[in-house]
Amino acid sequence: MPESTQPYYVTTPIYYVNDEPHLGHMYTTIAADVLARHHRLSGDDVFFLTGVDEHGQKVQQAAEARDIAPIALADKVVQRYETLWPELSISNDDFTRTSSDRHKAGVHAMWKRLLDNGAIYKGFYEDWYCVPCETYWTETQLKDATHPEKENCLTAEICPDCKRSVEKIQEESYFFKLSEYQDKIIEHIKENPDFIAPASRQNEVLRFVEGGLRDLSISRTTFSWGVPVPDDEGHVIYVWIDALSNYLSALGFPEDTENMKYWPADVHLIGKDILRFHAVYWPAMLMAAELPLPKRVFAHGWWTVEGEKMSKSKGNALRPADLLDQYESDTLRYFLLREVPFGLDGDFSHDALKTRYNTELANDVGNLLNRSLSMLQKYRDGVLPAVVEEQSEDRALIADIEGMQREVNEHLNNQAFHLAIERISQVVRHGNRYVAENAPWTLAKEGNDARLDTVLYHLVEALRLIAVQLSPVMPVKMEQMLSQIMNTDINIDALRMQDVAGWGLLEAGHQCQKPSPVFPRMDS
Ligand code: ME8
Ligand code: MG
Repeated sequence: MPESTQPYYVTTPIYYVNDEPHLGHMYTTIAADVLARHHRLSGDDVFFLTGVDEHGQKVQQAAEARDIAPIALADKVVQRYETLWPELSISNDDFTRTSSDRHKAGVHAMWKRLLDNGAIYKGFYEDWYCVPCETYWTETQLKDATHPEKENCLTAEICPDCKRSVEKIQEESYFFKLSEYQDKIIEHIKENPDFIAPASRQNEVLRFVEGGLRDLSISRTTFSWGVPVPDDEGHVIYVWIDALSNYLSALGFPEDTENMKYWPADVHLIGKDILRFHAVYWPAMLMAAELPLPKRVFAHGWWTVEGEKMSKSKGNALRPADLLDQYESDTLRYFLLREVPFGLDGDFSHDALKTRYNTELANDVGNLLNRSLSMLQKYRDGVLPAVVEEQSEDRALIADIEGMQREVNEHLNNQAFHLAIERISQVVRHGNRYVAENAPWTLAKEGNDARLDTVLYHLVEALRLIAVQLSPVMPVKMEQMLSQIMNTDINIDALRMQDVAGWGLLEAGHQCQKPSPVFPRMDS
């Protein structure tokens, strides 16, 4: 690797194994994959981590309901993810299983560091717990949530977040001194405006922390499916302490491995449902353990389906296998990241997907590819001519492409996928306009060979650079597109901007293939 390679570490949440993969899990993982691919393409040294969260009371209960051991349930769901991710072109470098020895060693090391640094003590917990959220609640929090108008009236024992029943817990427990980190966390958020993204979420976290942090119960004694507390095996470590540690255990923590160079993570991608754990508990743990904090936590929005919340009871959760029966993986990747600004909530509708596919992919990209390569065949037998004389409109196209390369980088550094894609679409539309304005068919009829040569060259070279830029979003389709242009099998994973991004790298005399449709129209 050249000296200049920068480590880049991107993570997804590790998903609970009590549920099958659905649209929401696909979404975060696809977004992380696009970042990983973009950074590899840019020459960075990337580590992309995803995985599963196998422990906790919720998983144990789900396994009991099916009358199988928790590890058997976990194995089954892991298999689903392991088949699914390649089908969606997910290029993760590693996969966390919290039941692995590697992970347990990392959790124990984290626990011991917190203990050695005086951040853990033993006490007694007496309050409420939401199993589906694996979250603790105080009596006051429940009262505030259930009865906003009447103070101190607990009519329903309902989780303020998910509105499901909470249970009362009274047990001996270890505690983490979260309260000691209140000011330090506020200070960190204020001094690092990039730490929590999108910016609109910063205030939400600040308000929560300013409302007061109580010490966090971090062990349970009433079930056994988890990592035992070192030297006190009747206690199981709180599943969130267990799960969050995966971002380090996957790198080999506590060993001083080669992979520890990836820490701190560049970005943890998560849904807004688990922001508090990543933007408050995790930083506090890391401060207590004297480890660097992740550079950014990005909490994206929530998908509904045809206007409704996805839920098991409604049975409307979109399953990846069904989606992949209907659509190609790249189409799903494109739609999910293009349709909704990352950070906002979105609605999945089949109509919206088809419309976007037909207008932006079949019409705009597909058309530019087809007409450019067809005209090259028709007028020059598929052989790329040399540029004779560049005019201002040719230079404008090149400038637009160079602007795209710069700005896509900036947008993706901010996880603004929709803006990055829109910036590429702008060049695609520019290319189609360039065809209409230069009317190669007229140039051919008039016998204006010099101008025709120049226009054909610019079209094909523009297409090549568009395909390179879109490849992190649609790796399969862009590999097909580039293979037609380059007339050889392209390995999309091996491309590096440094070698392919320059304008004019295609040489005169290069033979292109006949176009074959990459984005056939979809029936609505
Ligand atoms: O919370 N829209 O796991 P989980 C968008 N194990 N994203 C969604 C979504 C939706 N409707 N539904 C789920 C856990 N997600 C813990 C995480 S991390 C150390 C431990 C995505 O299986 C989104 O990324 O409940 C959300 O944060 C995550 O799935 C929750 O997955
Ligand atoms: Mg959840």
